[in-house]
Amino acid sequence: MADEILRLEKVCKAYNVGLPTETEVLHDIDLRLDHGEFLALMGPSGSGKSTLLNIVGLLDRPTSGRLTIKGRDIGALDDTEVTHLRGHTIGFVFQYHLLISAFTARENVMMPLLVDRGFPSAEIENRASGLLAQVGLEKFGDNLANNLSGGQQQRVAVARALAMNPDLVLADEPTGNLDTKSADAVFELMRQVNRDSGTSFLLVTHNIDLARRCDRILEVVDGRVRA
Ligand SMILES: Nc1ncnc2c1ncn2[C@@H]1O[C@H](COP(=O)(O)OP(=O)(O)OP(=O)(O)O)[C@@H](O)[C@H]1O
Ligand SMILES: [Mg+2]
Repeated sequence: MADEILRLEKVCKAYNVGLPTETEVLHDIDLRLDHGEFLALMGPSGSGKSTLLNIVGLLDRPTSGRLTIKGRDIGALDDTEVTHLRGHTIGFVFQYHLLISAFTARENVMMPLLVDRGFPSAEIENRASGLLAQVGLEKFGDNLANNLSGGQQQRVAVARALAMNPDLVLADEPTGNLDTKSADAVFELMRQVNRDSGTSFLLVTHNIDLARRCDRILEVVDGRVRA
């Protein structure tokens, strides 16, 4: 389908393969996400949500099954091709924002662009400033990351996730560490980006109020998806 960004067919993931401790934690996952969709992923602790996000984010490979991103079968790609596809297609936001605390907000947002291009430029700096403005932090570009509030830091993390203009943003409990008001603001920010740019989102959350404001909720229970 032309508007499909992501498809999983019978995806399984086992850890410690070949060892006595081998455990399969994802079983026969079928999942499809279209361009512009904002999907919530819920489920108990240990059910496999982060494992699933790692596979979709090309940080880990399935043990079996088929994963397709933008029509490309990931199983057919080598590690270099996977790294390139990840960098240009997927943005990440984690529960703990993982900003570099000794760098400014703007430098943190510039990071994926610097990794891609290898050198700083006025264009990169301008793009980072534009992204900070988009997340409402235009006045904070020169602040060190660890001088910002938790909610502000998470907005910087969202701006950083958008730096490469990804088709898909994967957010693993991005508001789990925030107070209700900041959580709401960060969620609304992501929803706005989704509406304005058509970026797809896969959001892991334990917050049912936020999940209900997504297009669709999927529940992961014991390594299986329940629609
Ligand atoms: N690297 C690993 N090696 C072995 N087992 C792992 C590994 N990572 C996760 N697991 C196991 O896989 C299962 C799923 O873990 P996962 O982190 O995906 O759960 P989750 O749904 O994200 O939970 P939470 O809501 O607590 O973040 C758990 O039983 C966990 O112990
Ligand atoms: Mg998790």
